[in-house]
Amino acid sequence: MLKGKHIILGITGSIAAYKSAVLCRLLVSAGAEVKVIMTPLAKQFITPLTMATVSKNPILVDFFNPENGEWNSHVKLGEWADLYLIAPASANTMAKMATGVADNLLLTTYLSARCAVAVAPAMDLDMYAHVATQRNMAQLKQDGVHIIEPGSGFLASGLIGKGRMAEPQDIVAAVEAIFAQSEKCAEASEIENPEKKKSLEGKRFLVTAGATIEPIDPVRFISNHSSGKMGYAVAEALAKRGAEVTLVSGRTAIDKPQGVEVVNVLSAEEMYKACVERFSEMDGAVMCAAVADYTPQVVATEKLKKGEGDMSIALKRTKDIAAELGSKKREGQVLVGFAMETENEEQNAAGKLVRKNLDFIVLNSLRREGAGFRGDTNIVSLIDSREKVDLPLMSKSDVAEHIVDKIESFL
Ligand code: CTP
Repeated sequence: MLKGKHIILGITGSIAAYKSAVLCRLLVSAGAEVKVIMTPLAKQFITPLTMATVSKNPILVDFFNPENGEWNSHVKLGEWADLYLIAPASANTMAKMATGVADNLLLTTYLSARCAVAVAPAMDLDMYAHVATQRNMAQLKQDGVHIIEPGSGFLASGLIGKGRMAEPQDIVAAVEAIFAQSEKCAEASEIENPEKKKSLEGKRFLVTAGATIEPIDPVRFISNHSSGKMGYAVAEALAKRGAEVTLVSGRTAIDKPQGVEVVNVLSAEEMYKACVERFSEMDGAVMCAAVADYTPQVVATEKLKKGEGDMSIALKRTKDIAAELGSKKREGQVLVGFAMETENEEQNAAGKLVRKNLDFIVLNSLRREGAGFRGDTNIVSLIDSREKVDLPLMSKSDVAEHIVDKIESFL
């Protein structure tokens, strides 16, 4: 239920913040991608290092990073999230939310959030029962915020009563119920409002992903480290915007993205054929696959036996799929390539942009930490004939959203 969901976990200054680490871990293990925003006081209760480690993302506290001035855009965060969960939510934060005060990143993000919002209150029993807190919570409910009721029991003050933050597993269950409810509403509104179109509805895209396998003999092959994650994320992002997507996939170990047609291939030659025969029907293609540039000249029909000395394998060039599609590209089609470089990055990428007749190229420098094959994050630059835009470190699914935004700008 939570697989692939984007959740912002807001943490406020409450002793219950120690439970936020467990909560975060449960959300991540259920498949959600979690970004954590902490109020300045929350850092006194649980360290950003703990939360960064369990969420696998840097923690956001300030409006900008004081070291490099990079802006933490509350608007972008608000757009990214499928759910904004504030746990623990202190009486102070709920009062500010109820009146629209925006004096920290957690609160500005609340005001920018377009997604569902849930709060798990945590405080002492008298604070919880106070008419002001109850009034603020009633206001939040009226504003559409989901309240995850606190439990009763021993409180940090030593008193016994209602105010303990709900247990992490109960919060996860409440979050799942919120998603289930909102999916039902979305289905209902699609039935009621069938003419509401997604931005890429009616468009068709081809995406290549993963590594090709070039056989040497029946048991051996030449391949590379590509995981396919970036291509799968692009296919998913296109499909989420309503596009019809054909994913021509080399070898990967990841699940098929929802709502996408997958054509499995092995060698560069098979991938070439699958792409060339489909490209003319497409509005665009995104070439994310790590295609072998060379393949054995001869594939042995029987397993090669070792001899005394060394051996060498004669290789021949494979066909360049991106360049072939580039030569066939017609007016209105968008072609996107990737460049994975270890030196002279920009120059090499710019060369490929022209040589393969691409509209833009996604430059991936293997020298940058957080970029590359196996991880869930990437640092890329988007380069076209006019400009180069450097994106910061982000998840591959966020990189995919930026790529799809740029594709839309070319359509
Ligand atoms: N590509 C392709 N078919 C190939 C080789 C590459 O479609 N046979 C695509 C990749 O999917 C990527 C882009 O071309 O979108 C760049 O691939 P890359 O291997 O980095 O570039 P090459 O042109 O092969 O150059 P080099 O290996 O010399 O860096």
